[in-house]
Amino acid sequence: MIDFNKKTNIFHLHNKEFSYYIGINPLGILIHLYSGEFLSELYPERVTERYAERFAFLDGDKEVCDESYYYSELSSLHECASNLKADRRGSFITIEHHNNSTITDFRYHSHKIIKGKVNPKGLPHFKASENECETLIITLKDVNEEIYLELNYTLFKDLNVLIRSNKLINKTSNLIKLKRISSLELDIPNKDYEVLSLHGTWANDREVEINKVTHAGMIIDENHGARGFKHNPGILLKEKNSTLDYGEVYGFNLVYSGNFKYEIGLDQWDQVRLLAMLNDDTFSFNLDKNETFETPECVMVYSNSGINKVSQTFHDLIRDNLIEKEFVKKERPILINSWEGFYFDFDTNRIKKLIDEAKEVNIDLVVLDDGWFGKRNADNSSLGDWTVNNEKINLKEVIDYAHSKDMKFGLWVEPEMISYDSDLYRAHPEFALFNRDHKPTLLRHQLVLDLTNDEVVDYVFDKLKNIFDNYPIDYCKWDFNRHLADIGTFDNNNEGEIYHRFILGTYKLLSKFKERYPHILLETCSAGGGRFDLGMLYYSPQIWCSDNTNPYSRVLIQYATNIFYPLSTIGSHVSADKALSIQDKAIVAAFGTFGYELDLSKLSEEDKAKIVEINKLIRDWHHIVTLGDYYAISSPFESNFSTFNIVSKEKKEALVFNFNFRPEQTKGRFIRVKGLDKNKNYFNSLTNDVYKGDFYMNVGINISAPIKEGMTMMFVLKEVNSLIKVVANKKAHAVKREKLM
Ligand code: GLA
Repeated sequence: MIDFNKKTNIFHLHNKEFSYYIGINPLGILIHLYSGEFLSELYPERVTERYAERFAFLDGDKEVCDESYYYSELSSLHECASNLKADRRGSFITIEHHNNSTITDFRYHSHKIIKGKVNPKGLPHFKASENECETLIITLKDVNEEIYLELNYTLFKDLNVLIRSNKLINKTSNLIKLKRISSLELDIPNKDYEVLSLHGTWANDREVEINKVTHAGMIIDENHGARGFKHNPGILLKEKNSTLDYGEVYGFNLVYSGNFKYEIGLDQWDQVRLLAMLNDDTFSFNLDKNETFETPECVMVYSNSGINKVSQTFHDLIRDNLIEKEFVKKERPILINSWEGFYFDFDTNRIKKLIDEAKEVNIDLVVLDDGWFGKRNADNSSLGDWTVNNEKINLKEVIDYAHSKDMKFGLWVEPEMISYDSDLYRAHPEFALFNRDHKPTLLRHQLVLDLTNDEVVDYVFDKLKNIFDNYPIDYCKWDFNRHLADIGTFDNNNEGEIYHRFILGTYKLLSKFKERYPHILLETCSAGGGRFDLGMLYYSPQIWCSDNTNPYSRVLIQYATNIFYPLSTIGSHVSADKALSIQDKAIVAAFGTFGYELDLSKLSEEDKAKIVEINKLIRDWHHIVTLGDYYAISSPFESNFSTFNIVSKEKKEALVFNFNFRPEQTKGRFIRVKGLDKNKNYFNSLTNDVYKGDFYMNVGINISAPIKEGMTMMFVLKEVNSLIKVVANKKAHAVKREKLM
């Protein structure tokens, strides 16, 4: 999988479908030679000649250029671009040396190829066995200083996945200041690329945006510290004409929950440079003698057949190599969360009543959201005071009550925060994270705890222990409702380190929690889906996707989220939103980790009966939604429809989802299902007919107009043994919502 040709000094990282070639040039500089569909022979002399011919008039480096080899620091494709040398297209790494110079120039020192992968310390990461992948570790050394940089390239055998991470080692006797360090650099010839990114805001958590890669450059970033909707760290770099199922597409994502940045642009020679890094606008890090710095992992996925393949690869990788094994296949409980139904207005009896009602409609888990601790009856106090408000709720009694009914019980916490009005702030104002020369900005009346300080991490963990050791809690919703501002700690205002150290502290706290309570199902959250990333998924198998539970909005938010994250990670609940019927809202919520967010006592008997039915179906479909292959069919960002289907791995069953936004009176439309076995016969629950897979995939299912606004449909395809006679069924052409579930 990873070969090194000693004669040509070229590495070839490859599996059956993907090749990545790196050369060491005569100056010891790492050159990017090729990335793309599997290529058995590179003919390197032709690749370099290509540049020689085209750029012969440029100032090639005379030391190494002759007729057979051309290199120009200015224009060649690099793997680790230097800083402040001739290449001015964006550096991979910038270090301020002891003499204040920030020139960085790393050259080849050594390499090794190992089975399996290396994992960055203190950071979440993909987990993989020695049979699944190989890693190339190339060590570079600064030309002048004893500073070493290890570049890790992990290639997977059966997935087109390259995971990149890097480690800097200061072996000088001086303090150096790291000002920028990337996780990945990809320099490739231009093919008219576009970038698909996800931006958003509260209650509008992720929206798809596609922009052309230009010479003006583009920055996709987050700089709010730890929670932010500005950009998600998942992006696609796609050929201009690529579609869901056609064309070359690269996917990238960082295993990190803090400030990140992608710099993407065309250079003067129309070549693309993409850098993925810790956001250097808010980063600098001092490294003393023998200290090291490790970057978060950046995963690169390659597809030569469109966006769907990138999504499927991300989904497989996240399910198999990131999420805790225990939760991947296990049926996730159907939950009801108290927030939108009760907000802060509850007591022991109301929660017990909720448990009774939830039991009646066959819900598995009752979650008590915000408001059970300190004196918190509004969002303006008590974060940090993790003691049960006994006047309001008898926590033991409600948990026992749920368990006595064979149900599970969950609790909300927001451990990284401190309310200005809290006993904790009164006792330990120094625990709050802000620069003491400034008046702190209160967002939602609260401040962030200084998790750069281990004492604070230990303190919070002890408080959590008091709750989770003493109450048999099955599920925990871990929230984070404001971003970082006025950066500084009590005794240290080194802003550049604080953002990253805060995230390391968060990961420390989460690791301690996971270690002590490995069986508690953790759902992270950040004012909805403000921290939906691979870093969080390492700890929590599901993330609350958005505080917006309106089905029209949810269809968009979930479609965008599906591009990078498996459906089993997407917390999606049915709320009391008036937009559509309970049944239609349930269809939208079915494609995630399912639950409710409403006051059951306010529902009609008819709706309660529907919930019982819905819950049964959710359980039937669970294995397809959580483990199947996802195929987008129609993007709601580009059409009137959100349409997709999921196929079980053995292609025995599929679920098809369709939602339309505007009514259509006269248009014809067929849903052409994807990913079925063309030779299998499938019964479909929409028309109650049996057709062969190739019929569903090539002709499709007729859902022509009239279509009402907000029409929500879902149907199941199930493999059957023989082709039952297909009855011409006129009614089948009129799509009836009642029949869809
Ligand atoms: C955030 C979450 C909500 C809820 C509230 C409680 O906004 O996204 O789901 O938990 O906090 O304060």
